[in-house]
Parts: sequence; structure tokens; C-alpha cells
Amino acid sequence: MSKNRILVIGSTGQIGSDLLPQLMDLYGQENIVAGEFNGDLPEEIKNRIATVSIDVTKYEEIEKAILENKIDIVYNLASILSTLAEKENKLAYDVNFNGTFNVFEASRNTGIKQVISVSSIAAFGDRAPKINTPNDTIQNPNTIYGISKVFTELMGNYYFEKKGLDVRGVRFPGIISWKVEPTAGTTDYAVEIFYGAILSKSYTCFLAPNTRLPMMYMPDAISALVSLSECDSKQLKHRVDYNVSSMSFTPEELADAIKCKIPDFEINYDIDDSRQEIADSWPSSLDDSVARNEWGWRPKYHLSNMVDDMLENLTNKLENQR
Ligand SMILES: NC(=O)c1ccc[n+]([C@@H]2O[C@H](COP(=O)([O-])OP(=O)(O)OC[C@H]3O[C@@H](n4cnc5c(N)ncnc54)[C@H](O)[C@@H]3O)[C@@H](O)[C@H]2O)c1
Repeated sequence: MSKNRILVIGSTGQIGSDLLPQLMDLYGQENIVAGEFNGDLPEEIKNRIATVSIDVTKYEEIEKAILENKIDIVYNLASILSTLAEKENKLAYDVNFNGTFNVFEASRNTGIKQVISVSSIAAFGDRAPKINTPNDTIQNPNTIYGISKVFTELMGNYYFEKKGLDVRGVRFPGIISWKVEPTAGTTDYAVEIFYGAILSKSYTCFLAPNTRLPMMYMPDAISALVSLSECDSKQLKHRVDYNVSSMSFTPEELADAIKCKIPDFEINYDIDDSRQEIADSWPSSLDDSVARNEWGWRPKYHLSNMVDDMLENLTNKLENQR
């Protein structure tokens, strides 16, 4: 794998900002190309690796970037996330449906070796079992974002089965990280709460105290993408729809875990009905045994070591910004 040239589309978002440096370390920075959208790449990345401007709604830009940079593997992280997608339906349709199609189509037409695509727990709906939601179950999402993720999974499977493109992907739960703040997701509270705890010892949560959702700490999320990419294709019976999970908690439980470290931290609630409705339609925990069995997925973080690591790294980051 080390000689493959990798293009990351959507490289400046919450996940891309952590994935890029990890790929640079693993495979050599000369082999990584960062897709930039609207000039949003930080200078420190631009100074170190090749970059290319890509809008996924424009097929030609993807094809040109792949050919000119002799790309072997594409990670597609470009997406409009759940909350914004409900407000900006047309934008979400253009990026999440047309953009995803364009990435698969350009990858097939240019002979790409592998595409990594990302789905979400939003791909389920209220008819799927809520607790330990199985990998293979009914999917009836009622958000544009969730519907676009089912499209991504099914189109990924289609391109593998019918067009011979090696597409692989996971369904991520809410991702927690300290480097870059999340954009417009329903699980963003689980990151915002740490900023509140460190900066003001308080946080007002937009979800109800007992809203249980599956979550994952960023190092595990990156490790899931990399191990799925590196595993032997023959091991995979599924393709673009692997449940991956590591922890599941409510805002109240997360606040209690933070209080163990910051005893005078206080949480209040001001529920945002639209985000609560989205959260209520999602699984509260995931069964990820298929990923564990097929490609050896194993997370390292649980609630308490995630809270310790988040508080330490975010405190350092905020102090360095002063
Ligand atoms: N963050 C989470 O909690 C979470 C959970 C489940 C799944 N996911 C999925 O993981 C992937 C990455 O998510 P993220 O949290 O990093 O998202 P993000 O919103 O932080 O980043 C999205 C990226 O897409 C880029 N982008 C937007 N429109 C584009 C366009 N037209 N062309 C090219 N790039 C464009 C943005 O510049 C940004 O780099 C997405 O598919 C998302 O649905 C994320």
C-alpha cells in the first residue's frame, strides 16, 4: 500500500483534518494529495503536500485531479451534515447525492484502485431496532442526510458489484475530536460540551439529558478507515455499510464523566426540537460484530479514556491559542 497515491476529498472538515496528517505519517507526505474546497486548507498543510481544488458537484474537477496527480486511492469525505442538510435541501442533494455519484463515476472512469466512502448511523430510521442496531436491518431514514447515506451505501455496493470498483466504507456514529470543531451535525453537543467545560465550566445542551447515541473518539475513527482500506478485499462480505462503534452515552452521562475531572462543571438543557427529532430517529447503540469479524475492527477508546484525552488536548489547544 505504501506506494499508492491517495487523494482526500473533503480534507478540511472535522474528520479530514485528523485523517490527512495520519495518512501523511503512514504513507509518506509525497503520496498524499489534499482536496481543497473554497480555499479552506490551512497554510501548514499547503506548505507540505500537493493540493488540488475540487468541488464534488463538478465531475470534471474530480477526474482532472485524479489524472493529473496519478491517484490510486480516493477517500471521499465531502458531505453536508445532518442539521445543515435539513435547512439546505438543494445544497445537500447536490453534494451528497450528485457529488457522491460523481466521485464513484470519476473513480471508475480513471481506473482508481480503491474508494473509501463514509456513511452514518443516520442511514437507519425509526423502524430499525434502536438498541444494538444490527449491521443488516431495515433502513427508513426520514432526513435528507440519512437518505443520502443509504444512497451512498447502495451506490458503493453497485459500483463494486457491477463496475468492479473496490469501494469500502463504514457507518460512523457521532465523532468526537479536539482539532477541528464539527460543522452541523446532531451529535455536535458531545464536542461543544468540552469547550464549555474548559472555558466556562458550564454548557447548555441542545439534546435532552437521556438522549442515548453511539459515539466514537477520532483516533478510533481514523483507525477504522485505515484498517478497512488496508485489509485484503477477499475478507469483505459487506462493502460500504459496516457499523463501527465504540461507546454509547447520554448527555447526562457525558456531563457526569466530565464532572469527575472538573467537579464544578454544570450542564443545563435548552432543547432544540429539530435536532432532538433527528437524534430520536437514530440508533442508541450499534452492533458492529460484522466489522469485527470481517476485518478485525477493534476500538481503543471508551467514555472515560476519551474524556481524559479530550480534556488534556483541548486544554492545550485553547491555551496555545491565547
Ligand atoms: N463528524 C461526524 O460526527 C460524522 C458522523 C458520521 C458520518 N460522518 C461522515 O464523515 C464524512 C466527513 O464528515 P466531517 O465531519 O469531516 O464533515 P465536515 O462537515 O466537517 O467536512 C466536510 C468536508 O466536505 C467539504 N465539502 C463541502 N462541500 C463540498 C463540495 N461541494 N465539494 C468538495 N468538498 C466539499 C468541506 O470543505 C469539508 O472539508 C461525511 O461523509 C460525514 O457524513 C461524520
